[in-house]
Amino acid sequence: MLLKRTHTCGELSSADAGQTVTLNGWVDTRRDLGGVIFIDLRDRYGLTQVVFSPQDDVTAHELADSLRTEYVIGVEGTVQSRDEANINPKMTTGQIEVRVSKLQIYSSAETPPFEIADDIKTNEDVRLKYRYLDLRRPQMQRNLLIRSKVAQVVRNYFDAQQFAEIETPVLMRSTPEGARDYLVPSRVNPGTFYALPQSPQTYKQILMVSGMDRYFQIVKCFRDEDLRADRQPEFTQIDVEMSFVDEESIYTMAEGMMKAVLKETVGYELQTPLPRITYEHAMKTYGSDKPDLRFGLEFVDFSDIVAKSEFRVFAKTVEDGGAVIGFNVPAHGHLGRGVMDRLTKRAIEEAGANGLIYIKNNEDEVYSSVGKFVSEDTTLAMVERAGSAKGDLILVLAGSKKDVYQQLGHMRLVMAQEYGLIDTSKNALLWVTEFPLLEYDPEAGRYMAMHHPFTSPLLEDVELMDSDPGKVRSRAYDMVMNGNEIGGGSIRIHDRKLQERMFSLLGIEEDEAREKFGFLLDAFKYGAPPHGGLAFGLDRIVMLLTNSRSLRDVIAFPKNQRAQSTMDNSPDVVDPRQLDELHIQLKPGLHTTNK
Ligand code: AMO
Repeated sequence: MLLKRTHTCGELSSADAGQTVTLNGWVDTRRDLGGVIFIDLRDRYGLTQVVFSPQDDVTAHELADSLRTEYVIGVEGTVQSRDEANINPKMTTGQIEVRVSKLQIYSSAETPPFEIADDIKTNEDVRLKYRYLDLRRPQMQRNLLIRSKVAQVVRNYFDAQQFAEIETPVLMRSTPEGARDYLVPSRVNPGTFYALPQSPQTYKQILMVSGMDRYFQIVKCFRDEDLRADRQPEFTQIDVEMSFVDEESIYTMAEGMMKAVLKETVGYELQTPLPRITYEHAMKTYGSDKPDLRFGLEFVDFSDIVAKSEFRVFAKTVEDGGAVIGFNVPAHGHLGRGVMDRLTKRAIEEAGANGLIYIKNNEDEVYSSVGKFVSEDTTLAMVERAGSAKGDLILVLAGSKKDVYQQLGHMRLVMAQEYGLIDTSKNALLWVTEFPLLEYDPEAGRYMAMHHPFTSPLLEDVELMDSDPGKVRSRAYDMVMNGNEIGGGSIRIHDRKLQERMFSLLGIEEDEAREKFGFLLDAFKYGAPPHGGLAFGLDRIVMLLTNSRSLRDVIAFPKNQRAQSTMDNSPDVVDPRQLDELHIQLKPGLHTTNK
């Protein structure tokens, strides 16, 4: 029999004292004190202490003796205010307890493989295998609730701005987003395959051609790529597209969404408009196209100062067209030799640098780790260029431009993290703009689209498309939050001639373009509005809002590092009959069933 609940486990207070109530939930903890049994009863809303005493009800007390953690029960009883001494200020319901007169056990439970509590040290594989238990932990429930809230805020926001939520197919033609596709074989069309969408990019552009004007969708995307903490093979985008817009319209719309999300989920006031920096500036100043602006440590270029240096490493680097760059770390000139050796090791092993040069700008001495080879004048000029104050430390790297910015970017993060230079009360959001249109792929021996082939070049750079394609900047932008790329998009090409030029730059022949994107090019023949959009990574936004370390902590049923779900054991072998129907034969050595 169901003891139908009158309240949740998170809502009773001394104002309810004297009331008869019914609660349902899981046994969180159990204590026996002098013949009286205390249970903390848990549900999604909180914990309530319930008390079984023979004085209240002998039958309920006797039955309560069999209760163990994670049993699912219903109790009926009276709310009683606790004595002053027994009030638990840590619990929302800490002022009261419920004295039980009726107990119903709905389910018993085996001892769980780990404690249902926050901050457990349990191996993540175990947590993922028993995900239903992991999701009982308050932290995980909070994460999923914040995620749910984000989705509702996003829907309300776009609805109020006249966006239409339109679903696009999951079984589709492969999209050119640059990762590997997940393929789905077609039974009724032997030998052919659908691809799962890497994003709904082509569909949303076609919706603009269809005159839908403003579209959004919260949508699953699939990419078969190497996994990292901030990447899942199956993830969720907030996908947006708008007609008759330029960058400004998109920035304003997207900033409004993030402002609403931050305010309504974590009560954070985001100041807009957001700062904007170009890709080139981001790389040269922070060594990253997704800089964390919660702290400074901005790069300084010493190349001209050291070009004529006696120190070969400096002079040769500049001679070869490389750069000598560094950044000043305020108030860390006291770091000792051992620490500096450890940082050097990290620069070599993690960042791939050849070594790490440093200058300690201390009161008693300006010490350079290469002081034996570099004149004092040069060192002092570097100190001045870095805007270094007494007591500061300067880190310096030399190398090819392609590598050295990235390497120093890594060390910038290392220093900020190791020495607590990040103001975690801040959220630093910004736009990175003017990404290069193309990226040269030495292996393929040709240019690839940095974003995707429908991204428009900056109009003033169009003429460089033939003469110097690598220099062409695009109308693509990313939104960055605390050093994470949370969204990206572009103004699209809506002109067929320009699209054809783009394909030819990418080395995509006419036939190939027709075969791959013919439907989109055809659609453009019939009147395409100027349009653009972007997609946010919903999982990444929630990861940041909840201070989680991995996307897996904000996805109900994520995949592990090997793209597996160990709870339901997928992917798995299938019955040979299924493969047969799909006209698929496995390579020798691969098996179908487990038997
Ligand atoms: P892009 O490829 O930049 O753009 O993706 C948009 C955003 O999606 C998130 N994201 C991911 N999140 C988790 N796991 C992944 N594997 C993953 N890959 C991407 C990131 C990223 O900023 N069609 C374009 C958008 C457009 O042009 O409108 C696109 O998909 O937060």
